[in-house]
Amino acid sequence: PPELHDRGPLSRLAFADGTVGWLVTSHKLTRAILADSRFSARGELRKSPIRDNLSDEPTKPGMFIAQDAPEHTRYRRLLTGQFTVRRMNQLIPRIQEITNEHIEGMRRHGPPVDLVQEFALPIPSLVICELLGVPYDDRARFQRDSSNMLSLSKPIEEVRAAVESVEGYMLDLVKAKREQPGDDLMSGLVQLNELTDEEMSNIGFLLLVAGHETTANMLALGTYTLLTNPDQLAVLRSDESLVDNAVEELLRYLTIVHFGTTRTALEDVELDGQLIKAGEPLAISLPAANRDPMRFVDADRLALNGTPTGHVAFGHGIHQCLGQQLARIEMRIGFATLLREFPTLRLAIEPQDVPMREDMAIYGVHSLPVAW
Ligand code: HEM
Repeated sequence: PPELHDRGPLSRLAFADGTVGWLVTSHKLTRAILADSRFSARGELRKSPIRDNLSDEPTKPGMFIAQDAPEHTRYRRLLTGQFTVRRMNQLIPRIQEITNEHIEGMRRHGPPVDLVQEFALPIPSLVICELLGVPYDDRARFQRDSSNMLSLSKPIEEVRAAVESVEGYMLDLVKAKREQPGDDLMSGLVQLNELTDEEMSNIGFLLLVAGHETTANMLALGTYTLLTNPDQLAVLRSDESLVDNAVEELLRYLTIVHFGTTRTALEDVELDGQLIKAGEPLAISLPAANRDPMRFVDADRLALNGTPTGHVAFGHGIHQCLGQQLARIEMRIGFATLLREFPTLRLAIEPQDVPMREDMAIYGVHSLPVAW
């Protein structure tokens, strides 16, 4: 919202436990902070502006999204070796196939269809299960557990129970891969012989949670946005080759990771004429950075044929999203196929009646009834 920018690029903000820290809203400061090792991502230091979360627990081995260099560097390097161009390219025909199957499913069901349940959620879910080597039949459990984990309103006990459920499952999976390795990413990690079972199960956990609801919400909220911006939808329909551009602009415009990008100052740092003291938490608003009028012309306007370079929807610095190429492939195939197969796609309810995910760490829609 524009009010965020009215507060200025760096302003004081009270966190959920009462600590006073900082809110960052400018694109320039966001990139500077995320690339600066004086600001830590370590889980045990983290504070949330929204809820007093699990931050008092030490970060688990392998949970590299919540670690700094050099621990982070080691895991990230091992993982980058698994997210190879070859493995991503191998997934393309499979992603197209999975997408086609879900289009067929929507046709069989007939309109109206909830796009979230029939398209946006199952596709990334299936893709991440195939990547990790998780049996797809277990997906309902993961969808429930990840949704509980990302909820900002559920009691903390439910969040913890969901975390434990996925951890237990992942540990069993690692053991199974050790006995009978396949061609999947978890088997690849097992065969490196460099990581403990606990590290691998936490890595699997991280990939599953990070890679699943994010892409699903981009597909669903992206479709909602296209259907409620008919002029932009027409631009994309008139030239399918714009889909790569459209994906980048939707990433910028929607920036679904709207809570949770937090850091903690490890020492006193002077920034933008203000003194950030050692130990103070910072909440970085990626949506505000991506709508910063100092960085983007007409930042609040969706322009699918513009040149949306430099957005921070995937973060920035050492923690920049590991799965971004995979997410881009899924979105390109997802949007292009959906629009091609349903030339008359439309919302089946009024736009203002679509339930938005105000209560979740990843923004999006809870459901999206569509017809054609
Ligand atoms: C990190 C966004 C899809 C795996 C991040 C971060 C953002 C992000 C903003 C940085 C977090 C921080 O700095 O605190 C997104 C969005 C996605 C997406 C918007 C979809 C459109 C995926 C997928 C995967 C994935 C498909 C896995 C297959 C990860 C991992 C990290 C990460 C492992 C941590 C990287 C690190 O700490 O080095 N993502 N992500 N993400 N993402 Fe994604």
